[in-house]
Amino acid sequence: MSNEIKRIAVFTSGGDAPGMNAAVRAVVRTAAFNDLHVYGIARGYEGMIDGDLKRLEVRDVGNIMHRGGTVLKTARSKRFMTPEGRKQAYESLLAFDIDACVAIGGNGTFTGAKVFTTEYDIPIIGVPGTIDNDLYGTDATIGFDTAINTAIQAVDKIRDTADSHNRLFFVEVMGRNSGFIALNTGIGSGAGCILIPEIDSKIEELVDLLRKGARRKKLFSVVIVAEGNKYGGAAEIAKQVQESFDHYDTKVAIIGHLQRGGSPSALDRVLASRLGFGAVEAILAGKSQCRVGIINYKIKYTPFQVAITKNKHPNKDLVRMAEILAI
Ligand code: F6P
Repeated sequence: MSNEIKRIAVFTSGGDAPGMNAAVRAVVRTAAFNDLHVYGIARGYEGMIDGDLKRLEVRDVGNIMHRGGTVLKTARSKRFMTPEGRKQAYESLLAFDIDACVAIGGNGTFTGAKVFTTEYDIPIIGVPGTIDNDLYGTDATIGFDTAINTAIQAVDKIRDTADSHNRLFFVEVMGRNSGFIALNTGIGSGAGCILIPEIDSKIEELVDLLRKGARRKKLFSVVIVAEGNKYGGAAEIAKQVQESFDHYDTKVAIIGHLQRGGSPSALDRVLASRLGFGAVEAILAGKSQCRVGIINYKIKYTPFQVAITKNKHPNKDLVRMAEILAI
């Protein structure tokens, strides 16, 4: 198949993640090195439907590695969920003679790619880009490391004021369906408790834990709450805890989209470069309909069908360790 591939397109889709630009740069440069022409599609599937494609040369992706967000822009496309939208998208790819695509995004992106590639004959290689780190087939996703670094820095600052006032802080981090950000932020910031969607932590258990802490003369505490936590976000949990536990002055901080921005960390830059490189190498090797990932430092490819149906969960040993270290 590699002989037939002359032009590829690259796009970013879903929530942006720091490091996506490094992946775009790696795709463009690896492709150029192999004499392929590359087109950048603006705003993910939206731009594909609208035919918003632009040639990207080697120098067009210079000086973007250190920038957060995505220079290609991104979107969540409702139109691509319809057969008409996908037909229009395929026609755009035909109009630009695109032979294969690299899609950088999260599970929504690859669910769309899976449907698209069963309807139309176009090879797509996925690159895992989301701060949530909730994608199967890779140890880490692009943006996760930067996001937890940002969240940990924020919690460090909150600790200073929590300590000064003997306050109980509930800090909400992102993770609509997963607790990777919360768990790692909690461990890295030395939080007193971490609430994640994957573990059913009852309010009574949290109150009990805080009571024990108070008995051990713990004068302040920080609880990290994943936004997708079963019993509510930080504000809701704080309200419920306050009702039955008034030892502390309780405050809530929501880190929100701060976690999605900023210059990517070293780990994310290297990860994104490897994944972008691996995506183009996969196209050249004739692979298609799969997602590139890194497992135990090695590049691995997982078919879309498996990648989008299997879940990756936070390591239970880490959860247990976090609880022990918080005593
Ligand atoms: O990028 C993933 C994520 O950050 C989730 O954790 C969060 O729920 C969601 O995106 C919010 O994204 P948006 O504000 O773009 O809808």
